[in-house]
Amino acid sequence: MKNFRSKSNSRLSRPKVLILLSLFALALALVGKTLHAEENSLAKEDRACLACHDKAGLEKKLTNGESLSLQISTQAYTESMHKDASCEDCHDDLNAKTHGKTEVAITSKRAFSLSMRESCRTCHEKKFTEYEGSVHAALIAQGSKEAPLCSDCHNPHTVRSVKIPEPITATPCAKCHADIFKAYSQSVHGQARIANVKSAPLCSDCHQAHAVKAASLGTGVKDACLGCHKNAVTSHQEWLPNAELHFEAISCPTCHAPTAERRVNLRIYYGVDKQQVTEKVGVPKFEKRTDAADAKEMGLDERALWSLLKEFNQDGGDGKMVLRGRLEVRSGVEAHQLSEKSKALKDCNTCHKEGAAAFQSVSLTIAGPDGRPLRHGIQKDVLNSLTSMDSVRGFYAIGSTRIKLLDTLLVLVLLGAVCVPLGHMTVKRLFKNMREKLEAERAAAAAQAANQTTLDAQHADDDASK
Ligand code: HEC
Ligand code: HEC
Ligand code: HEC
Ligand code: HEC
Ligand code: HEC
Ligand code: HEC
Ligand code: HEC
Ligand code: HEC
Ligand code: HEC
Repeated sequence: MKNFRSKSNSRLSRPKVLILLSLFALALALVGKTLHAEENSLAKEDRACLACHDKAGLEKKLTNGESLSLQISTQAYTESMHKDASCEDCHDDLNAKTHGKTEVAITSKRAFSLSMRESCRTCHEKKFTEYEGSVHAALIAQGSKEAPLCSDCHNPHTVRSVKIPEPITATPCAKCHADIFKAYSQSVHGQARIANVKSAPLCSDCHQAHAVKAASLGTGVKDACLGCHKNAVTSHQEWLPNAELHFEAISCPTCHAPTAERRVNLRIYYGVDKQQVTEKVGVPKFEKRTDAADAKEMGLDERALWSLLKEFNQDGGDGKMVLRGRLEVRSGVEAHQLSEKSKALKDCNTCHKEGAAAFQSVSLTIAGPDGRPLRHGIQKDVLNSLTSMDSVRGFYAIGSTRIKLLDTLLVLVLLGAVCVPLGHMTVKRLFKNMREKLEAERAAAAAQAANQTTLDAQHADDDASK
């Protein structure tokens, strides 16, 4: 064939045209034959189903008034990844005698989908198990009518290979998370994807497709970023001191979604194994406790927060419960407005300044039973006192919360940073000093807190003996 083409540069002679035409006809015939063979490749039983079901307009009224289309396209089915499966592999509960002759009551589309959900398990055990651990499956277990089943993301009768490139609008996540999809499609990644950069992520590259977890739970999403941007720590370290610590205390979109509003999120952790505290299914405590502690709905103050933590500690924290602060953006949409690097937040003062905007909104979160955060407002002044309470171990943004001395140091540091390379040494030394100072203060605060607990305990003893 190759040979043939290379010769055809010159004008073709008549016999050659004839040969060409007959070859073409032969090819067509062959194609026709394979198509035919494809349809024939369906088992007799399946063709019997399709004889009734590949009819336009075949539909059924459901009890709730919805109408369910019953048409299955033979062509789409024979082109699908399930062409070798038989209808009855998944539809094994139909009554051959009465099917199609008597009506079977179906409550709603959702009820029908739910009744079919187990049908994927036998052949896709692994994906099924992954999915069962997802936030989506947890939502369904809680009775959500909107969270996706397998068939919401994959049409079982038309499913194509995931290797076939599709436009981003075909991602199944788009239909339910429309606002986030819109933000994503305008982001660096969405734009890259539209421009055919295959290595740029889709939703499932950051969140996974089946084992989707609540986005703010743990470090899954951050790990996904660093999985592709392997040099990120090193490249940020060039201008950002202790980049790793910053990455832990600040979510990536906080700096990379330049127009987003920011806030401080205090997350409750078990100190020992560094797991986020998760509320147990069916035992709602967080909302009850926070609502009780904050009757005026002004946000928890210092004392309310302190006693709330104690309560959670008594549930099994063993005195090891800590708050870990994180700067993040305020909404899910903003988390997806990632821009090119030149627009990213670089100004240290955005955070390391007294009264910085990001520190004006503070909330406390615990992971709900499905992993999604349950949230309650905290009075922003609490941040200042928190640092001395030792309950927000490891979260200061120097300057923004307190300590004038450190502010001055930071200015020096910044000046130092300008005078590279001599400055570089100074920066390092200054940071060392600053860190030592911070550590000393934290130790002092811890000692103070320990004293305080002993005092409390003594008071309690006194009270008891009265
Ligand atoms: C004689 C025509 C005919 C054949 C053959 C047929 N169906 Fe149906 N099918 C129908 C009709 C009509 C309905 C709607 C019945 C109703 O209103 O309850 C239906 C409904 C269904 C439904 C919806 C759920 C339900 O139970 O109502 C499924 C799924 C289905 N058919 C699958 C199949 C499969 C799989 C086969 C082959 C094994 C098949 N059908 C063969 C006519 C047919
Ligand atoms: C891989 C499993 C699988 C195979 C194979 C399969 N189905 Fe289905 N089918 C399903 C599931 C799951 C649903 C429910 C879809 C939903 O939730 O919307 C369904 C729904 C249907 C419906 C109701 C209309 C609809 O689209 O929801 C009909 C009719 C039907 N199937 C017919 C067939 C016929 C005919 C075949 C063979 C040509 C077939 N199915 C093969 C899994 C399968
Ligand atoms: C929220 C949407 C969603 C749900 C729910 C979902 N999937 Fe997927 N699935 C995807 C996406 C997106 C891909 C392609 C990207 C990937 O594999 O990471 C995919 C890929 C797959 C693949 C091909 C995997 C491969 O790598 O070859 C299979 C098989 C699959 N899904 C089966 C299932 C089954 C079975 C279920 C139900 C237990 C299910 N999916 C539920 C979105 C979903
Ligand atoms: C009878 C076995 C069987 C059942 C049941 C079944 N599948 Fe499949 N599925 C297959 C086979 C075989 C393939 C071909 C590719 C492969 O080997 O993974 C496939 C492929 C897929 C793919 C595309 C994978 C890819 O590589 O791109 C998806 C998505 C998928 N199935 C989803 C589902 C869903 C959703 C259900 C339940 C509604 C289901 N399957 C039920 C056998 C099955
Ligand atoms: C580049 C990685 C990335 C991609 C691609 C991505 N996300 Fe996200 N997503 C994130 C980050 C980061 C967060 C915020 C996580 C946090 O709070 O730490 C998030 C949060 C979410 C949330 C939770 C929102 C909330 O209210 O808290 C949902 C839902 C979500 N993403 C869905 C999607 C969907 C749907 C897509 C595709 C249209 C998508 N994501 C694409 C990184 C990504
Ligand atoms: C059929 C609708 C539907 C589809 C499709 C769907 N989701 Fe969801 N998803 C939901 C619903 C409903 C919730 C719970 C409400 C919420 O948090 O937005 C949810 C929650 C989430 C969450 C947890 C939100 C949080 O607070 O952290 C993430 C992450 C998520 N989805 C990602 C995805 C990804 C990625 C895809 C595609 C692979 C996808 N979803 C496809 C309906 C869907
Ligand atoms: C304190 C703000 C800040 C945080 C937090 C931050 N970045 Fe950046 N990032 C920047 C700035 C500013 C640049 C541009 C640097 C330059 O061009 O000099 C940048 C550049 C980048 C680049 C392009 C250059 C390169 O390194 O390849 C990537 C990719 C990147 N960041 C990813 C991330 C990821 C992933 C995270 C979270 C783990 C993150 N960033 C957290 C501010 C931040
Ligand atoms: C699947 C791999 C992948 C994942 C996961 C991923 N990225 Fe990217 N990212 C890319 C690619 C590829 C580009 C380059 C797009 C282009 O060519 O413009 C990019 C571009 C960027 C840029 C712009 C860099 C520049 O030079 O302007 C930033 C910032 C960025 N990513 C941050 C993130 C953050 C933050 C996350 C996690 C929330 C993340 N990325 C997750 C692959 C990924
Ligand atoms: C988006 C907000 C933000 C930006 C921008 C930012 N920082 Fe930070 N920085 C923080 C937070 C929050 C912490 C607290 C981390 C912790 O202790 O958990 C921190 C911690 C620090 C520390 C203490 C590190 C240690 O080892 O204990 C230094 C030093 C520092 N930042 C310097 C800088 C400099 C210099 C810049 C500008 C190049 C900068 N930061 C930009 C938020 C920011």
